[in-house]
Amino acid sequence: MPRTVVFAALFAAAAALIQPSAAETPVERGRYLVNGIASCGNCHSPQQPEGTVSGPPLSGGNAIASPAFTAYPPNLTPDRDTGLGSWTADQIVTAIREGVTPDGKVLRPPMPVAFYRGMSDRDAYAIAAYLQSLAPVRNQVPASSYRQPTLPGYGGPVGAIPDPDPSDKVAYGHYLAQMGHCMLCHTPRDANGRIDTSLLGAGGVPVGDAGIITPNITPDPKFGIGAWTDGQIADALTKGVRPDGSHLAPPMPWPYLATMSDQDIGAITAYLRTLKPIAQ
Ligand code: HEC
Ligand code: HEC
Repeated sequence: MPRTVVFAALFAAAAALIQPSAAETPVERGRYLVNGIASCGNCHSPQQPEGTVSGPPLSGGNAIASPAFTAYPPNLTPDRDTGLGSWTADQIVTAIREGVTPDGKVLRPPMPVAFYRGMSDRDAYAIAAYLQSLAPVRNQVPASSYRQPTLPGYGGPVGAIPDPDPSDKVAYGHYLAQMGHCMLCHTPRDANGRIDTSLLGAGGVPVGDAGIITPNITPDPKFGIGAWTDGQIADALTKGVRPDGSHLAPPMPWPYLATMSDQDIGAITAYLRTLKPIAQ
């Protein structure tokens, strides 16, 4: 065998080794993220009050009401008239990460654009590919209404974003927690309506129809989850069960997180343990 061919073969083998998920297609990766950590269906799928999906997944969600708005998460299936059927993958990715639609509208809350801005190119396009692979469902959601002004934008184009390194457990856990927009629900707002980063994970936010207040998920041993073992945190995230056996109500997206790998749940746990403990 000529030398260059041998080197090329070795190089291909090495490349295969450093990309353990190379066998996963973009649609498979997108399915794992959308139905897992990104939990898009927690807003964009029709559901019963107790959280079970009650119609075609991702075909448009229930009203999400707050004092500031009544929002109807749109149909994400590729129906041409009522969904994303006429959008290109680039346009879907721009909507998710930059919050701008093909006709120039800025997406409003609670679409968690600010949390999706750091999503890698590979993951964002995988999500677009998965949405485009769904069966089109015809369903026009009602128009949303907003009673307060919303953000003028999210900061413009994000550029090219490389994949995070899963071997850096805490950084990878942070990447996943952003995609899971944990802090959208688990962090109070400042006076300008933005996430109060000095209280990251402190909870205390009313969410959902039942007016549930989100708990503190910082490592404070008394007010947060600092005294929970890794296994207990994994059970809360993937089974919706607290150490005392009580169950987590919607909209905590545990039925989505239940589909995640142990490795990814472990990375999120490692990241949560690095948050500043907050005693409130
Ligand atoms: C917390 C709720 C929530 C989550 C989670 C969420 N969205 Fe949204 N999304 C919304 C709302 C509400 C809108 C409508 C915003 C508006 O009308 O300005 C929206 C709008 C969109 C749009 C624009 C559609 C259109 O027809 O204009 C796209 C695309 C989209 N979301 C994709 C996604 C994807 C993909 C995910 C998961 C990676 C996701 N969303 C997760 C609430 C959510
Ligand atoms: C859409 C809002 C929402 C999102 C997103 C969300 N949570 Fe929650 N979470 C809740 C609510 C609500 C509860 C409490 C449910 C209850 O009281 O029954 C909860 C409970 C929890 C608990 C149990 C804590 C305790 O003391 O009871 C943990 C741990 C947790 N969430 C972690 C996370 C993590 C990690 C993420 C991101 C991967 C996340 N949550 C995303 C709403 C959310």
